[in-house]
This record gives sequence, structure tokens and C-alpha cells, in this order.
Amino acid sequence: MSYSQSHLLGIEPLSPTDITAILDLADQYVDLNRRDIKHSDALAGLTQINMFFENSTRTQASFELAGKRLGADVMSMAMQASSIKKGETLIDTALTLNAMHPDLLVVRHPHSGAVDLLAQKVNCAVLNAGDGRHEHPTQALLDALTIRRAKGRLHRLSIAICGDIAHSRVARSNILLLGKMENRVRLVGPPTLMPSQIGQFGVEVYEDMREGLRDVDVVMMLRLQRERMDGGFIPSEREYYHRYGLDAEKLSYAKEDAIVMHPGPMNRGVEIDGEIADDINRSVIQEQVEMGVAVRMAAMDLLARNLRAKPAEVMA
Ligand code: NCD
Repeated sequence: MSYSQSHLLGIEPLSPTDITAILDLADQYVDLNRRDIKHSDALAGLTQINMFFENSTRTQASFELAGKRLGADVMSMAMQASSIKKGETLIDTALTLNAMHPDLLVVRHPHSGAVDLLAQKVNCAVLNAGDGRHEHPTQALLDALTIRRAKGRLHRLSIAICGDIAHSRVARSNILLLGKMENRVRLVGPPTLMPSQIGQFGVEVYEDMREGLRDVDVVMMLRLQRERMDGGFIPSEREYYHRYGLDAEKLSYAKEDAIVMHPGPMNRGVEIDGEIADDINRSVIQEQVEMGVAVRMAAMDLLARNLRAKPAEVMA
């Protein structure tokens, strides 16, 4: 099992071998997580610090659980109450924590690129838990594991990513990962919610939802990221649901055995019909959450192996 990196900052620097290494180990952690005693010593003696500068339910909980199940000492910082509020910069906070010798630093930040910058200043492994609109690598990895387990493979599949692509780090990381693994990716949504440099992604773009879903294996829905919008990107939520909300009629254009995904948090009746989201024959939304814990365990385990293999870098 080989993972070549010393951080997990995004999907962009990963090779297909790195991706497969994480997914293969995550499969083993899925088995561990289904046992009565969910414990391993893979991270015993190591310290994991979680710094979430943006709201999170699933990602923060699953990183915390992942670390605890692997025996790490885990601390989640309450960033609302931290010295950032007193004017300390992100880098100063990071350097302060670095002086306490963490081994793994998990960071979510509203600014694209903030996590990469931080990784240059500390001498431990950094995992990006979502930075602005840039990347959310563990989400793309957990989506990949969910797809691989449901479809039996992770290549030559046709996958539609639908909705607010422009503001979504989930979409960006998924486009990169699914492309590296040689799948066909379609982006479906209104032109106002498509990124401007769409041409460079090697994807097909559809404005019509029914055409975009025709014969796909996977339908991945996204939330309207209102917190990242500075103006009117859609006429109204009702109109949006009418044109782009996933309901049974639109889903009927996809393959009969197509799976439905959503990273959460989900807005029922805005981007997805509640009945589709709860349909255990089509929706894998709960499996995605389960895979999230296993993927984060695998990523931290592989990073810890690399940490142990190399002597710590001395910072200038
Ligand atoms: C996503 C995120 O934070 O980027 N959520 C998540 O991590 N499960 C998607 C979103 O917020 O819509």
C-alpha cells in the first residue's frame, strides 16, 4: 500500500496509486467500524488537532471519531472562542499549536488556499477538511469509495454532478478525482452556477437536467451554497427546484440502477425531493457518511506511516 504524500491538501497532487491506496485501506476500516469493538492502535501516541474555522457537522464529527478509533489523542479547538477573535492571524495560531508538537492537523477554512499556506508553516501532517471553493479531498475520497462499493468499480462510469458547481469545493475535488480515475463527468446546472474556466476541466456541460442525467450511473446533487453567493444567482428556490431539483421524474432519465448521492447538509425541496433522498434503493447518502469515517481513518493512518518513516523536518 503506497501513499506518496506527507499531507492531504487536495486531490490535485494525488496519483491514481495514492487514491487507490487510501480507498483500499478504507475498505478495511469499514469492516472495523462495523464490529462491536471499533478500535485500533494505528495512531497510538500521536496527537491530532482539529481546527474548524467554518461550520461543520459531518466532517468534524467523522474526523474526531476517526482519530479516536485509531487511538490518537484528539483535540478539537473551539475556533469561535480562540484568539483568532482577538486578532491573531491564522499563521500565528498555527505556529502556537505547532509548538505543542501535534502530528496531524485537520483544518477547515473559508478562504481558498489557506490550508496550503498553513501546511508550509508547520512541521506535521496537514489534512484539508475544506478550504473555500478550492478543495475538499476527503469528501471526494469518501464519494469515490461509496461509488466503488456500489458499482464494483471506479472507472468508465458516467457521473452527473448537479447544481451549484461554481461555489462547490466538493464538485472541484470530485471532478479531479473522477477524471484521474478515467470516468466521464458531466456538470449539470444553470450557467450562472457554472465556474468560469469550465473548459479546463475536461467535462461535458449540460443546462438541461433531463439531458444531463440521461443514462448516467451516478447522480451527485449539491447544495446551493448561499453563504458563498454575493447576489442573485437563481430566480427563486421554487423555480430552481422545478428546473434542477432531483425528483423521480428527472431521475427516470438516468440508468435504472443509478445511485443518488449528496454530501450534506441537504435542503429537501430545494435541490432534492425528500422521498428520493430517503429511498434506500436509490440513495446512498447514509453510506457516504459511513464511508467518511473509514476514509478519514485510512488517510490519517497512511500519513502517520509516512511521518514515522521520515525524521521530522526541522523548520528554518
Ligand atoms: C460540504 C462542504 O462543507 O463543502 N459539506 C460537507 O463537508 N459534508 C458541502 C456543503 O456544505 O454543501
